Amino acid sequence: MTTTSLSAPQQQLLNLFAGLDLPVLAAPMFLVSGPRLLAASCQAGIVGSLPAPNARTVEQLQQWLEQIVGERDAAQQRGEQWAPWMLNMIVHSTYDRFEAELELVRRYQPPIVSTALGSPKRVLDTVHAYGGVVIADVISPALARKAVAAGVDGLVLVCNGAGGHTGNYNPFAFVAEVREFWDGPLGLAGAISNGRDIHAAQVLGCDFSLVGTRLIATHESLVEDAYRDMLVECSLDQVTTTKAVSGVLANWMQPSLDKAGIDPRSETRPSIDFSGDIATANKAWKHVWSAGQGVGQITRTCSVAELVDELHQGYRQSRARAL
Ligand SMILES: Cc1cc2nc3c(=O)[nH]c(=O)nc-3n(C[C@H](O)[C@H](O)[C@H](O)COP(=O)(O)O)c2cc1C
Repeated sequence: MTTTSLSAPQQQLLNLFAGLDLPVLAAPMFLVSGPRLLAASCQAGIVGSLPAPNARTVEQLQQWLEQIVGERDAAQQRGEQWAPWMLNMIVHSTYDRFEAELELVRRYQPPIVSTALGSPKRVLDTVHAYGGVVIADVISPALARKAVAAGVDGLVLVCNGAGGHTGNYNPFAFVAEVREFWDGPLGLAGAISNGRDIHAAQVLGCDFSLVGTRLIATHESLVEDAYRDMLVECSLDQVTTTKAVSGVLANWMQPSLDKAGIDPRSETRPSIDFSGDIATANKAWKHVWSAGQGVGQITRTCSVAELVDELHQGYRQSRARAL
C-alpha cells in the first residue's frame, strides 16, 4: 500500500467514525429512510442518513431538513448524543432536482454528503466550503479510482450480497485491491448484519460499515408492515439478484417478485431515467421489496435503539474475543 498523507476532510471523516462507539453508517435507502429513521439512528449513536429523492418534492425535502436540524439542536441542548448525519444525493445528469437540492445542502449543511449515479465532483466545492465531507459508493476498483481522481474524501465499497443496487465483488478481494491505492476513509457495505460483521470489516481494513437491510425492519423505517414481516420470514435462499426490476443489478426478496409476477430471468430491462418524480417513476420499488443477503439474520422487528444496542453488544464481544 502506498502511504500518502491524508487531507483535512479525510482526517475529519476518520475522526468522525473513530469518535462513535459503533463505527456504523445507517445506509441511505430509497423509499425506506425518512427523517424519523435518520433521527433515531443519530440518537442511537450511529450516522443517520436519507436519500434526498425520498422527499416527494423539494419543498418536502426542505421541511425534512428543517426538522432534522431542529431535532439535532434540541437534543444537543438537552445534552443528549446526536451522531452526525448524511444526505445521499443523485448526481446523474437527468436528475432535474439537483440544483435545488444543492441549494438546500448549502443551507442545512449535512456533515456528510454521499453521491450516487454520477461524479461526486458536482458537489465537492459546495460541501467543502462549509466544512462537510463527501463520500461515494463504488462497486469496482475502476470506479473507486475514478471517485478518488474526482477528489472524494471517503469511499464505500458496495460488495456482493448488498441490499438495493448491489455490487458483485467479494469484500476480501475488493478491499485488498482498493487498499493498494487508497489510504483514506473506507466504508464497507453488503450483508453487514451483526456486531461481529462490523468488527470483521475493521479487521479487513475498513474504517466503518454500512448497515442497510437490517434497518428496514425497524419501527422507524418508512415501509409498510408486510415488508417488515417478509424480512423476518425470508432467509438467504430467498434473495434473488436480477436486473429485471430496475434495469440495474439488485437484490430482491423472491416472494415479492412472485407476487408482482416478475420473472428474474426476464431479459426486459426497464430504462433508467431520473427526471420527474422518481418515487412515482420507480413504482417497482414500492411493490417489489429489496433485501440483502443478511436478511436471514432478521428475526424480529424492533426499534433502531434496540437494534443498535444489539449490534453494539455483538461488536464489543467480538473485539473482546480477538484480544
Ligand atoms: C431498499 C433499499 C434501497 C436502497 N436505496 C439506496 C439509495 O437510494 N441510495 C444509495 O446510495 N443506496 C441505496 N441502497 C443501498 C444501501 O445504501 C446500502 O449500500 C446497502 O443496503 C448495504 O447492504 P445491506 O442492505 O446488505 O446492509 C438501498 C438499499 C436497499 C436495501
